[in-house]
Amino acid sequence: RLLGTAAATAAAGLAAGAGGAAAAQALTAAPAPTPLTAVGTDRVPFHGAHQAGIAQRAQAVGQLAAFDLRPAGRSRRALAALLRRWTAAAAAMAEGRPPSDDDQVALDAGPSRLTVTFGLGRSLFARVDGLGDRLPAALAPIPAFGQDQLDPARSDGDLFVQIGADDPNVAWHALRTVQRLARGTAAVRWQMSGFNRAPGAATVDRTPRNLMGQVDGTGNPASLGKVWVPRSSGDQAWMRGGSYAVVRRIRMLLDDWDELDGGRQEAVIGRRRSTGAPLSAPAHAPERTPMDLAATGSDGLPAIAANAHIRLAAPQSNGGATLLRRTFSFHDGYDPDGAPDAGLLFVAWQADPRTGFVPVQRRLDRGDALSVFVRHVSSALFAVPPGCAPGEYVGQPLLE
Ligand code: HEM
Repeated sequence: RLLGTAAATAAAGLAAGAGGAAAAQALTAAPAPTPLTAVGTDRVPFHGAHQAGIAQRAQAVGQLAAFDLRPAGRSRRALAALLRRWTAAAAAMAEGRPPSDDDQVALDAGPSRLTVTFGLGRSLFARVDGLGDRLPAALAPIPAFGQDQLDPARSDGDLFVQIGADDPNVAWHALRTVQRLARGTAAVRWQMSGFNRAPGAATVDRTPRNLMGQVDGTGNPASLGKVWVPRSSGDQAWMRGGSYAVVRRIRMLLDDWDELDGGRQEAVIGRRRSTGAPLSAPAHAPERTPMDLAATGSDGLPAIAANAHIRLAAPQSNGGATLLRRTFSFHDGYDPDGAPDAGLLFVAWQADPRTGFVPVQRRLDRGDALSVFVRHVSSALFAVPPGCAPGEYVGQPLLE
């Protein structure tokens, strides 16, 4: 009744202002099309040698989810069928097309740089008949670290889906779609939402900032050579061209961090807050000035402190260990004491975590100045198979 009244009032208003015929047309005509901006039209091809969502700059919105196979899904056939359904839907959505049996949540949106990336956890190989001997050695469990405070319910998982898009609705639609397509075969084990800066929202073309305000991502490798499993790998052949994703939910203890003055905050990382340049470089040096670990300040002390995060994390301090960090920030409300439950959904990509994440984190765990301001609260590792061609599905070389 209320609706009827409102519609009648609106119609009367229109009729009074614009004449009866025009008003009737305005109420029935389809809305004029609005041209999409680049945020909507930009797309990332789904098919290729590598899965999408690794080499590309992280999108404004991230959705990470792990699934566990239900009893009905624990056969090669059921798993292959699920991966075939997921692949077809992801390929369609990456082009801005609705997946089959669509719920229409993203109907008017463009592809918005959507990527959907699929991974397989260690537990899957024990659960699915016939996969035991296909387990990659590189999928060895990540060792426990002294400062870990991990929640098992938000760690691990049989299957992993990483979704990124520059539009929140498009990202959520993709998450809902993969979850709907998994019904009866796999159920969500954990899910985390993250974000980055939106495209076009910054005045400077600089690496985005994390929730501590630091420019985060500068030191990522310029070449992705150590991100992909090489063709020459002696480990499982089906993983060649794939990668391994280490996923850590890292909470930032932001109230403690705020207690540090700006100079001490910069010393913890080893880079300037304003520009992201290393502390070994002159005051107004640009972000990408190479760091000089041997440089000293006027006090004779190392310009980049002995326990600075970048010194301990750098490949030159870890026998060349290299990883690609492709992260999203998260914020999930506040604790009763008012502290934000916020931090980094840290996703690190490498050809082998045993020579990537593990040695670097071991080093950081032992003495990183940042470690007292962060807490690792969940952890997972997934084998992310190579990409596929049209007509194929992700993971096919493992299951056929
Ligand atoms: C560099 C922040 C956790 C590995 C950096 C930088 C920042 C930062 C601001 C400097 C800019 C850059 O190169 O990106 C953080 C925060 C973390 C965190 C806030 C936790 C909440 C980790 C973890 C690892 C890691 C867990 C790996 C185990 C690295 C590496 C670099 C780096 C490899 C580049 C060092 C280089 O320049 O060669 N991090 N980080 N970070 N971080 Fe982290």
